[in-house]
Amino acid sequence: MKRLLSGIQPSGELHVGNYLGAIRNWVALQDEYEALYCVVDLHAMTVKYDPAAMSDRTHDMAATLLACGIDPEKSTLFVQSHLTEHSELAWILNCVTPMGELYRMTQFKDKSARNQQNINVGLFTYPVLQAADILLYQAAAVPVGEDQVQHVELTREIARKFNGRFGKVFTEPKALLTKTGRIRGLDGQAKMSKSLNNQIPLLADEEAIAKLLRPAFTDPARLRRTDPGNPEVCNIFPLHHGFSPDADVKRVDEECRKAEIGCVECKRLLGRNISDSLAPVRERYESMGRDHVRDVLSQGAERARKIASATIEKVREKAGLLGRKGAK
Ligand code: TRP
Ligand code: SF4
Repeated sequence: MKRLLSGIQPSGELHVGNYLGAIRNWVALQDEYEALYCVVDLHAMTVKYDPAAMSDRTHDMAATLLACGIDPEKSTLFVQSHLTEHSELAWILNCVTPMGELYRMTQFKDKSARNQQNINVGLFTYPVLQAADILLYQAAAVPVGEDQVQHVELTREIARKFNGRFGKVFTEPKALLTKTGRIRGLDGQAKMSKSLNNQIPLLADEEAIAKLLRPAFTDPARLRRTDPGNPEVCNIFPLHHGFSPDADVKRVDEECRKAEIGCVECKRLLGRNISDSLAPVRERYESMGRDHVRDVLSQGAERARKIASATIEKVREKAGLLGRKGAK
């Protein structure tokens, strides 16, 4: 099986957009690839954060991924900072990465525009740490959304630069673009995100989901119940696609256009379908023991370390660093 790696920041609760756009896909990919999934806490340090909350967030993200169906029998789930190899390789890769490339990164431009008071060097070299995450494991495939394709392309270039200068160590990875596309938030404006407050939390119960859906933006042409709508422009419809049975999707698609179903009922149907689909995730999350999560993460780190340390040894040798006494 080919190897695959992806990462997610421990940035608080997941929402249904993350689930449809990424996590559901990660769960499916475990059967086709040797998958490694990494909670990237070091990346989360590049913006201002509460140190008292970080460890719980990291733990919670791991618990949520397990609840979603990441299976430790099939995949390796681990925390980035548990392996010093990530930071070590990031440093070495920093030394073959042109600054000009990093200045071009869209995410850096966006984030530094939004955090004018905290444009730290970590934010700048964020993509190099991401390249280290990927290259350490010689991953062939990296499932990501559209916004991360640029970082995977850069990773390929960094791999080529290192290989060209020091001799071949790294495999060039390919981005596996998630097909779902971006899920818009309930405001119908931007991508669903926690910071924009336009999200449905993944672990919300039926009542909470209904309450969030009620004021949500729909097709603006439907001012009255009798106005026909167009599901293609409505940001509620993709959620039906993600969570509703085919029969409901078809019904909404047809009846919306003929003004036979109202938005109120359409949303009620959606709320129930989201809640039903995610009920098993909520249940698994509620019954997940802390010790179990810690065990999974420590086994994950151990498995990951076998691969990572072999790569690092090769890198050190090719780069000409003096071998540590006692190291092979
Ligand atoms: N930068 C990615 C994001 O914001 C997270 C990430 C870190 C990642 N390391 C990775 C994704 C390695 C894929 C592979 O979503
Ligand atoms: Fe959107 Fe549903 Fe209303 Fe149609 S009926 S506009 S799909 S919410």
